[in-house]
Amino acid sequence: MNIVIVGTQWGDEGKGKIIDLLSGKVDYIVRYQGGSNAGHTVILNGREFIFHLIPSGILHKGKVCCIGNGVVVDPVVLFKEIHDLKNAGIKVDQARLKISSRAHVIFPYHKILDQLREKKKTYRIGTTGRGIGPCYADKINRCGIRIADLLNPYVFKEKLKDNLKEKNEVFRKVYGHPGFSFNKIYTQYLNYARLISKYVCNTSLLLNQAIRKNKDILFEGAQGTFLDIDFGSYPFVTSSSATAGGACTGTGVSPLKIDKVIGVAKAYTTRVGEGPFPTEFSDSFSRYIRNKGSEFGATTGRPRRCGWFDCIMVKEAILINGISELAIMKLDVLDGLKKIKICIGYKYKNKVFRNFPEDPEVLRKAKPVYQELPGWKEDISKIRQYRDLPPSAKDYLLRLKDLLKTKISMVSVGSSREETIFLD
Ligand code: IMP
Repeated sequence: MNIVIVGTQWGDEGKGKIIDLLSGKVDYIVRYQGGSNAGHTVILNGREFIFHLIPSGILHKGKVCCIGNGVVVDPVVLFKEIHDLKNAGIKVDQARLKISSRAHVIFPYHKILDQLREKKKTYRIGTTGRGIGPCYADKINRCGIRIADLLNPYVFKEKLKDNLKEKNEVFRKVYGHPGFSFNKIYTQYLNYARLISKYVCNTSLLLNQAIRKNKDILFEGAQGTFLDIDFGSYPFVTSSSATAGGACTGTGVSPLKIDKVIGVAKAYTTRVGEGPFPTEFSDSFSRYIRNKGSEFGATTGRPRRCGWFDCIMVKEAILINGISELAIMKLDVLDGLKKIKICIGYKYKNKVFRNFPEDPEVLRKAKPVYQELPGWKEDISKIRQYRDLPPSAKDYLLRLKDLLKTKISMVSVGSSREETIFLD
C-alpha cells in the first residue's frame, strides 16, 4: 500500500502521531512539500520528538526516510535535527536518509526576507518566518538554487552571485537592510554541501524502483488542506501544495501508484497565524482549550487559535484529497464539556453555504450554523476500545461520520502511540 497522510484543517491536526503509528508497517516514509515550517510531534517512551524536516518515520529502525523534490530544505535545521537525533541514540546515515537533488535550498536571505515582508505588510499572513514563501517564489521564478547546484561549486557560485546581485539591491532599496555577503554564504553553504552530499540521490528513481519491488510508501503531508497554496484560505496559506496531489509532484511518483489517502482531523479546529476562522471560540474558551490541548505551535511556540469542528472544511478536504478514511485526534480534549458544537453551514447575506466558499469575503464574514450535541463528563484518555467510550462521545463520532460520509478508522485520546482507539 502506498498511503498519503494529509491534514484536513489548518495544520497541527496530529499527523505526526498517525505517521508514527503507520510507519512501522511501511518501508519508506517521504516528506513531499513544505520545509522547516512544519513541526511533527511524536511521543516515544515519554520523550517528545519534534520533526521539522526529517520524516518522523526515522524513529522506526530500518525504515528509509526521504525528503522529496517538493520540499524546501534549510541545511541549518537539517543538520541540527540530525545532530539531535544522533544524541538521542537514533541512527541517521545515508542508508536511512535520502534527500532529493531537485529539492530547493533555503538561504539566510529567504528567512530575512520572509520576516521583513511580514513587518512591512498591512495585512500580515503570520508566517513562521522560516523563509518558506521566498524560497518557493525563487523556485517558481526559476532563480532558486537546488541541492544539485549546491553540490557543484562552479554552478553554485554563479547562481548565488546572480541571486545576491538582485536581492541585495532589493534588501537595500526596499527594506533598508544592508544585504548579504557572497563570501560568507558561499563558504558556509559549501560546507553544508560537503555534509549533505552523502544523503543526496534521485529520490524519484529510488521510490519508483521501490514500488516496482512491492515496497510500501507512506507520504507524510505537512501543514493542511486549508494552508494549501491553491485550495487553502488564500492568501493566508503556506506556499506549497499541502493537499494529496502534492505527494505526486513533490516526489515524482505517479498518481496511479497511490492506493489510499488518509485524512487527519482534530476533534475541534485550530489555526496559527492570521486569516478567517468562522468557528473560532471566544477568547476565554479559546484559552481554556488551548491550555487543555497544549495548543502552541511546535515550530514557533505561538498560541494556536481554537474553534469548533467545521464540517464544511473537512468535507471539502475529503473531496479534494480523495480521503477514504479519517483519523480523529485529541477527542480527550473535549472531555468535561456540557455541549459540543459542529459547524454544518455558513450563513452569509441570508444564504446558507453548505460547501466551502471560494470567495474569501464569505469565509471572513459568514456566521457558522451549528448542530449542538451533549458532551461527556468522563476522562476518556484511558479508553482503548470504541465500545467503552461514553455514549455522548460515540454520538459525536457517529454524527461526524454521518455528516462527512466518511469512515473514521482511528480516534486518538492522548499523545502517545498507545492512546489510540482503532475502529473496524
Ligand atoms: P509559512 O508556511 O511560514 O509561509 O506560513 C504561512 C501560514 O501557514 C501561516 O499562517 C503559518 O502559521 C501557517 N503554517 C505553516 N506551517 C504550519 C504548520 O506546520 N502548522 C500550522 N500552521 C502552519
